[in-house]
Amino acid sequence: MNPADLHAMAREEQARQEALRCRIMVCAGTPCLSAGALAVLDALRQAVEESRLDAEIEAVSTGCMGPCSRGPLVKVAVQGKPEIVYERVTPELARQILYSVVKGRRPPTASPLPPDHPYFTRQMKIVLANCGSIDPERIEEYVATGGYDALAHALHEMTPEDVCREISASGLRGRGGAGYPAGVKWNLARKAPGERKYVVANGDEGDPGAYMDRSVMESDPHRILEGMAIAGYAIGADQGYIYVRGEYYLAGRRLEAAIRDAERKGLLGSRVLGSNFSFRIDIRTGAGAFVCGEETSLMASIMGRRGQPWHRPPYPAQRGLWGCPTLINNVETLATVPAIIGRGATWYAGIGSTRSPGTKVYALAGQVETAGLIEVPMGTTLREVVFDIGGGIPGGKRFKAAQSGGPSGGCIPAEHLDTPLDYESMERIGTIMGSGGLIIMDETSCMPDVASFFLDFCRDESCGKCIPCRVGSMEMHRLLRRITSGTAWPDDLRRLEELCDLMGATSLCGLGQTAPNPVVSTLRYFRHEYEAHIRERRCPAGRCTMAAEQEPGPGGKALLHAVGVPGEVG
Ligand SMILES: Cc1cc2nc3c(=O)[nH]c(=O)nc-3n(C[C@H](O)[C@H](O)[C@H](O)COP(=O)(O)O)c2cc1C
Ligand code: SF4
Ligand code: FES
Repeated sequence: MNPADLHAMAREEQARQEALRCRIMVCAGTPCLSAGALAVLDALRQAVEESRLDAEIEAVSTGCMGPCSRGPLVKVAVQGKPEIVYERVTPELARQILYSVVKGRRPPTASPLPPDHPYFTRQMKIVLANCGSIDPERIEEYVATGGYDALAHALHEMTPEDVCREISASGLRGRGGAGYPAGVKWNLARKAPGERKYVVANGDEGDPGAYMDRSVMESDPHRILEGMAIAGYAIGADQGYIYVRGEYYLAGRRLEAAIRDAERKGLLGSRVLGSNFSFRIDIRTGAGAFVCGEETSLMASIMGRRGQPWHRPPYPAQRGLWGCPTLINNVETLATVPAIIGRGATWYAGIGSTRSPGTKVYALAGQVETAGLIEVPMGTTLREVVFDIGGGIPGGKRFKAAQSGGPSGGCIPAEHLDTPLDYESMERIGTIMGSGGLIIMDETSCMPDVASFFLDFCRDESCGKCIPCRVGSMEMHRLLRRITSGTAWPDDLRRLEELCDLMGATSLCGLGQTAPNPVVSTLRYFRHEYEAHIRERRCPAGRCTMAAEQEPGPGGKALLHAVGVPGEVG
């Protein structure tokens, strides 16, 4: 296939879709599937067949449409009319929807989401542009939206240096958590000497509550493949790996099918799009260890070793897989690349904040009216996200805090609701952007309990290679459990804070270094809650069950011997 064939394929698919009277899209992302989307799709397809309308009406399955808590979702696109999205669709309702399309009426019992619902109008979709609109298992649909155009443009009209320059000029920062400038990393990998180089897409996504990357992998897999191929061309790699979390079965299956289709069409493999560039992609499946999302553990896992981190430098871009320069980027980072190459760095740099350009995908979860996936320009405030887009807090309760960045992040209290969500502003208030998990909490959440939940997670996920994290996470979790059960002593708070410092400063990898963050930030904004648990043996949120009896005091001293907190030994 050459660029002209690609354009012919796009035109053919566009013409096919334009010839239809109506396209009915059923969301088949994981949340909607678990709410019964397959039965809805079957009912629709059967009804289309029975009414002999298959030539003019098409029922297709797509990826995530966004408001996952309202699923299963069905989107109806009648030629020449605005799209209508129906929520909580049952098979019976699906048949009514089809009937309404045939008769040109609104289905009697359906509840369409208004087209001007802020959930749709307040977003800006670049990475999620096709999610919920195309069938992820048909390459033609991706191509019809302009897919693989950016790769063709890069291969035939740009040098690898041009591509790196464009990524640098766009200001794109890595979406995996740290926000490292993508252009700097790409240039490093391009300039690093080496016969072989690799590109790795990090789709491990282990943070509790986060599923942005899973949705992109499930809903628009070719966008990631295209971004990886552009990255491969830019740095001189001929092999890529996508590291997919083991639990993400559907994402893995759709990616596999997408790779096969792209190879068949000459969009991956030898001499991509008639150029001299060859690039293959394989999938590697993780086993669900959070630490394997960390780049050095991830590479160890790809190479068939135990998933444990190693010291950096050298960084993967210098010395990574099998000692070769390896570019590792998050799935969302790579999925942004086709848009940047296609529409230009200046366009992209003009979106969002000056130092954090572009958009960010968030998984909005917890106590919020509409939970799901959203994509907004960087710099959008938390208030806009929670109240305008998410519809606020259910049951007339008050917003208490949002946890951003999962177990490595921190909480944003109500007083900072107007903080713009970008790398710098979030850091200023003591949290991190992280990969995009946003867990919303109402007044019934107990903050020491929240910190305890995340510490429990880190304790479980610690790989055990270094003592500060292996022992520190256990001890911190033990202290937090004492606090939330009303058995802690005043000195425990000081011990907890010392452990935060110790673990952060001496752990080997990011897991241990950032594990204290939820404690540090909840202490910063909700210290009074810790003190109420300790001094009054009372949970202000009414969530924790206090033990009947206080533990004996001096036992606390022995607690810290194991980790050697200065001043506590002896
Ligand atoms: C414990 C831990 C878990 C991580 N998990 C992920 C992950 O699931 N996905 C991801 O992209 N990055 C994760 N990272 C960050 C990666 O190490 C790496 O920085 C990232 O993949 C680089 O991509 P980016 O530059 O596009 O952000 C994790 C880091 C740590 C310390
Ligand atoms: S900080 Fe924790 S996860 Fe990282 S190497 Fe040490 S023990 Fe393993
Ligand atoms: S999975 Fe259906 S809206 Fe997200």
